[in-house]
Amino acid sequence: MPRVEVTIGPQKHAFDMEKGESLLFEAISRSVMIPFNCTSARCGICRVKVLEGAENLNEVGDREILRLGEEKVEQGFRLACQTHVFGDVKLEVPQPRLY
Ligand code: FES
Repeated sequence: MPRVEVTIGPQKHAFDMEKGESLLFEAISRSVMIPFNCTSARCGICRVKVLEGAENLNEVGDREILRLGEEKVEQGFRLACQTHVFGDVKLEVPQPRLY
């Protein structure tokens, strides 16, 4: 059973989930509040950065590349609503910049 560790600002969360399930929906069901809006790769709000275990996720899809851009994808960013987990992974939810 994959183990997911998520850092959101100062908070650290960890949970186990069924292999192949949606990262976003599993997180929300455990009250790990990854921000989201559309759940369909349109808003980009559910952006997460993969710190470890990228090989344990589904491949980055065309819709993610369109929304995030190739540079962010190469830096390890994913859309949680498009990400399915098949093994252990560590993630960070980027905090919005304050200008
Ligand atoms: S929730 Fe909108 S892109 Fe994932």
